[in-house]
Amino acid sequence: MLLRGTEALTAAAREGTAIPGFVAYNLETVQGIVAAAETSGRPILLQAGASAFRHTGRTALMNLALDAARRSTAALGVHLDHSRDLDEVAACVDAGYTSVMVDGSHLPFAENVALTREAVRRAHDAGVWVEAELGALAGDEDVSTGATAAGGSMTDPEQAAEFTAATGVDALAVAVGNVHGFTADPVRLDLDRLERIHALVPVPLVLHGASGLPGEQLLGAVRRGVAKVNVNAELRRAYLAAVAGALPEALPGADTVAVWTAGRDAVAATALRITETLAPGATPS
Ligand code: 13P
Repeated sequence: MLLRGTEALTAAAREGTAIPGFVAYNLETVQGIVAAAETSGRPILLQAGASAFRHTGRTALMNLALDAARRSTAALGVHLDHSRDLDEVAACVDAGYTSVMVDGSHLPFAENVALTREAVRRAHDAGVWVEAELGALAGDEDVSTGATAAGGSMTDPEQAAEFTAATGVDALAVAVGNVHGFTADPVRLDLDRLERIHALVPVPLVLHGASGLPGEQLLGAVRRGVAKVNVNAELRRAYLAAVAGALPEALPGADTVAVWTAGRDAVAATALRITETLAPGATPS
């Protein structure tokens, strides 16, 4: 069923847990993420952004995700990840998405405020909640580039409070040393900065770039106001490794279903493991 509204997010923030936002690119990743929600019984956000839309076509992936979420017994939000485009935001809102992320983090502060405020106006009219980003993460959303946190810019706590008040946004993605994709050296989050942001910003915080983050760092962030955790690279790697493993046996008979099934099951297992890491009472792994 579709998870509408911010209740699950604010409940996660209140309980000191987080909802995973998993990125999907195709049918098998959607199916794997849905399976993780059904097995765990935890709410999950199924999300895709512009690059996944370029691969499948926006309507195809939107409909795939919405249909899978509506048919599932689990509570699944369908979320637009990293959009810089108000027309794309409007298309997803019109299609029935439950939340959108408008990403103006590359813009000067005032322009980020203006873009975000307009997305909030359009989305809230339709009962859709909005995530925005302040500060900028290093790395690429679709491929691990070996970036380090130094390539981004950290979120300023006072500015984050001003941004949240000026835009009416429902959740704020922050840059506190997190990086998109896998990194050569372990990431160390600036948890003091996160704590200062949490003290000043009244909405749930979002941590992008959670792939490969040590368990104790992840839970440290969750204890400091992070109520949504975005994961992509870990699912991509699990999917590709499973596909590669299945290929030698599948190639002689051109058994495509065996390969896709291996990819789907690997996504399901990885998404389940991460979801359980974020559930109430989890201990660092
Ligand atoms: P990772 O690829 O590092 O998990 O980041 C995912 C993300 O932040 C999607 O928005």
